[in-house]
Amino acid sequence: MQVHRFEKVWLGAAILLIVGFIATIAYGSVGVGVGMVGDSGGQISAEAVQNGNTGTQFDDPGVVKEDGQYVVYVVARQFQFSPGTGDTPIRVPAGENVTFRVTSADVVHGFSVVETNINTMVIPGQVSEVSARFNEPGTYGLICHEYCGAAHHTMGGSVEVVPPEEYDMQQENIDQSADDAQAQEEADQ
Ligand code: CUA
Repeated sequence: MQVHRFEKVWLGAAILLIVGFIATIAYGSVGVGVGMVGDSGGQISAEAVQNGNTGTQFDDPGVVKEDGQYVVYVVARQFQFSPGTGDTPIRVPAGENVTFRVTSADVVHGFSVVETNINTMVIPGQVSEVSARFNEPGTYGLICHEYCGAAHHTMGGSVEVVPPEEYDMQQENIDQSADDAQAQEEADQ
């Protein structure tokens, strides 16, 4: 059988493309770790989350320290993150490992922190777990990227990453004025 030269070129190009596509998918799933929401976070009753009687930290969401690790409990519901939305941003220290445990009180939401690779679906009945470390202090946007209802486009918030020394100060001396904190800092040195 006689195969024309151009035929061979196009055949080669098509095979290259297919191999390339398979390689990018393999890289995405193995190299970068892109995948479906795992079940490592465990299951939870969405109704109990809605009623605030799960008997877990989700009844009082926020940042806690578990075994020396910062863990952020976040409840997503139409159309806000608690904490995260409005005047209750998620506050975490820079340079520390932070684990986000996110669940939904109603429908499927998304949890994506802009400029980071923190990005997961939030499924009612399930706890999504994502770990990260913020190296740079600053304010990061937080958005819901799964269509969740009429006001989906308004569902967002922010993550405030503060320098670690400042963070501890806020935790421990939350009522002290800046001057007192300054004096404390000098006394410590
Ligand atoms: Cu929540 Cu879109």
